[in-house]
Amino acid sequence: MREGQNAVIYRADYQAPAYWIDTVDLCFDLDPAKTRVLNKMKVRRNPDVPAQALKLDGDELNLARVLVNGQGTSFKMEGDRLVLENLPEGHEPFDLEIFTTCAPARNSKLMGLYVSNESFFTQCEAEGFRRITYFLDRPDVMASYTVTLRADKQKYPVLLSNGNLVDQGDLGDGRHFAKWVDPHRKPCYLFALVAGQLVCREQKIRSRGGKDHLLQVYVRPGDLDKTEHAMNSLIASVAWDEARFKLPLDLERFMIVATSDFNMGAMENKGLNIFNTKYVLASQATATDTDFSNIESVVGHEYFHNWSGNRVTCRDWFQLSLKEGLTVFRDQEFSQDLAGEASARAVKRIEDVRVLRTAQFPEDAGPMAHPVRPEQYLEINNFYTVTVYEKGAEVVRMMQTLVGREGFERGITLYFQRHDGQAVTCDDFAQAIADANPGSQLQQLLEPFRRWYSQAGTPRVHARTQWDAASGTYTVDFTQHCPPTPGQAEKQPSVIPIAWGLLDASGREVGQGMFVLTEASQRLTVPGLTAEPVPSLLRGFSAPVILEWDASDEQLLALLEHDTDPFNRWEAGQRLAVRRALAAIEGSGVVELDTSFIEAMRNILRHPNLDAAFKELVLTLPAEAYIAEQLEVVDPQRVHAVRESMREQLATALVDDWAWAYEQNHENGAYSPDPVSSGRRALAGLALAHLCIAARKSNDTVWPGKAYQRFKDASNMTDRFNALAALVVSGQDLARPALDKFHGMFRDEALVLDKWFSLQAGAPDRGGNVLPIVRQLMQHPDFNIRNPNRARSLIFSYCSANPGAFHRPDAAGYVFWGDRVMELDAINPQVAARLARALDRWRKLAEPMRSAAREAIARVAGKPDLSNDVREVVTRALAD
Ligand code: TRP
Ligand code: ZN
Repeated sequence: MREGQNAVIYRADYQAPAYWIDTVDLCFDLDPAKTRVLNKMKVRRNPDVPAQALKLDGDELNLARVLVNGQGTSFKMEGDRLVLENLPEGHEPFDLEIFTTCAPARNSKLMGLYVSNESFFTQCEAEGFRRITYFLDRPDVMASYTVTLRADKQKYPVLLSNGNLVDQGDLGDGRHFAKWVDPHRKPCYLFALVAGQLVCREQKIRSRGGKDHLLQVYVRPGDLDKTEHAMNSLIASVAWDEARFKLPLDLERFMIVATSDFNMGAMENKGLNIFNTKYVLASQATATDTDFSNIESVVGHEYFHNWSGNRVTCRDWFQLSLKEGLTVFRDQEFSQDLAGEASARAVKRIEDVRVLRTAQFPEDAGPMAHPVRPEQYLEINNFYTVTVYEKGAEVVRMMQTLVGREGFERGITLYFQRHDGQAVTCDDFAQAIADANPGSQLQQLLEPFRRWYSQAGTPRVHARTQWDAASGTYTVDFTQHCPPTPGQAEKQPSVIPIAWGLLDASGREVGQGMFVLTEASQRLTVPGLTAEPVPSLLRGFSAPVILEWDASDEQLLALLEHDTDPFNRWEAGQRLAVRRALAAIEGSGVVELDTSFIEAMRNILRHPNLDAAFKELVLTLPAEAYIAEQLEVVDPQRVHAVRESMREQLATALVDDWAWAYEQNHENGAYSPDPVSSGRRALAGLALAHLCIAARKSNDTVWPGKAYQRFKDASNMTDRFNALAALVVSGQDLARPALDKFHGMFRDEALVLDKWFSLQAGAPDRGGNVLPIVRQLMQHPDFNIRNPNRARSLIFSYCSANPGAFHRPDAAGYVFWGDRVMELDAINPQVAARLARALDRWRKLAEPMRSAAREAIARVAGKPDLSNDVREVVTRALAD
């Protein structure tokens, strides 16, 4: 491999491009082994920048010809760049024609033009377009595209690109062509083409504004019956963006295409979104409720990018959160609005916060910590992170909190009015929201608020409460501090909106409000109370911070029973559980759950008015990764053992209640993935798992038998998979025959086989048995490390999602990890670098794991020819 030791890129070094590219006319002769690309551009010098050479980015291209205004010209190479020095002077546009070839069939990185299942796909974000043709591959260069595709008609009957189809026909010799014109200027990272044997579901819609549009979802023949949900999600997305933000669809035709070889979730190419099949294909037989809901989110996400990302794009890649944070916020709001009533909205909010706290908080506390708007990178692909996406969304959410929902909608309107067609910065976004809301707290606090973009690390807010009976006054003293992160020792106070409420002894709300913490320490005073209230702080998780609050068990139990804020009600239960887990982990290692905790859980489970989905969240113990974050030194096996023990005790102590909950919730009639019935399935699934766990303790065979029966008879994948998982996590003998049967039933369903691999790699470790199983599954005929979904389902499920099994004292898990990182790096560096991050938090590990992990990382770091992607991750992991 020939990655080269590229240099670090700094945000502060941004310079406007020396040239503009106004139009691009691309002609592709598609051939898997050798595709010819003719690229005709209109280029002109940028009058605002001193005259200089034109340096075009390229990567793994074969250059055949360069013409300027139709004439041959001199050029040279600087590394991967094509440098043109003798260009026409003055500021008139000139023609630049570049002819190259590339080899899509050998493109295993899945960036640029590649082949998957005999079809062609592209992925250009962030820097993949340079693997298709020489170009100014940066988002602030926006051009109008005309694209002609030529290919064998039999093998590639469908030829797609961005925009509108303006011409098509036969070329003779068995080949045909299609010509596409995109009416919108765009950065090259939004370019896309697709060619292959595909079929589509289509739907005509009329928008509120009275415009007609054609929506299409393209998949492989045979998958058409799995596209209804994606289409419905797309229709809902179009309607939602128009209703909530007055943002209409600006295209006559909007296409989604699914591919099974894809590095991430999906990509928002203008008018031609390309998706991982995982986020398109769903039928009740093959997809779980979670899959259905992820599809809704991702379809929404990519569609919403059409405005937040495409109409207004990023000036440079440091501004990535401008589009990603905003678009995640938008897709979260979309899913909440579709969920409907308050409880279902809260469930979605809790799920989002869970992702933030189990994935982003650790990132923010580890060697890859970076601000929402990073200052530097070696490989931009490494910065498509939970910080840029999820924390970025929280920052947008806080803006909405500070200006109100209507104010935020005004802000969005101003943002798009001001910047439509431009490539802008995160600062421009915050400025627009503030400017649309004069006098708002955001506008007044804008300068300190911007620290959310520049400071890495999770702020810690400490709350100390005091009750003055004499005056009837309740006070909360807040202090904040943010621990240092790599390259950022000093932190300034953040602007932290803290939604709060006070409950009286009977659970009635006696006060509530929004306190905006701006200083290192500040006091909230609530007068006029008759008795000491129970405080409910950071309601709805109103800021992405760690709230340190020494609540008593009584206070937490009261919140769990009464809080009118469902988020904090759930949070109280989590705090009670974490407290018990930590006491055991830091103490004897033995946990014995007290009756008050168990009774509180029973009351939630049996509650007459709470929704099943909410109950399922409360009854699910905090993840091992979340518990581990609260510890200075982590022994993952000990964390696992304690959590398992807590789960067993909940299973046994509540066995009748679980049985009752199962009977109440397991019948749901005809399948529909709506929040109510999916919540009931989730609770029934959790109940069944606990019943199988309890049965294993008591050597009972009734519930395992029932689980196996349900596994066989289920009419949908959610129930079937939950039953299978119940057998697997409880270590029942029936797990093996069930797994074998499951494989037999779904041997032709790639996405279901991913679940099959993932379930086994993520199973609780029994005497170190998971790693040998994973090694064996690597040899399975259905395993293929070159397919990212399959690699993730086996390797990542073990290394990143199964801490109790991965962190072995004998270091065998780390050796396996290092081998796979290096193996993957030669195939697909982007995927390899994600896997490399599984050991991010090695410094927190207890010995002997800590030293073993460091050694494993050092072994990878010492390999010559590492990609920039992996090199950046392992270098940062080892840096002091
Ligand atoms: N912009 C895409 C999204 O939000 C994600 C993306 C970035 C991506 N780079 C990619 C997808 C590379 C696939 C491959 O949702
Ligand atoms: Zn996105």
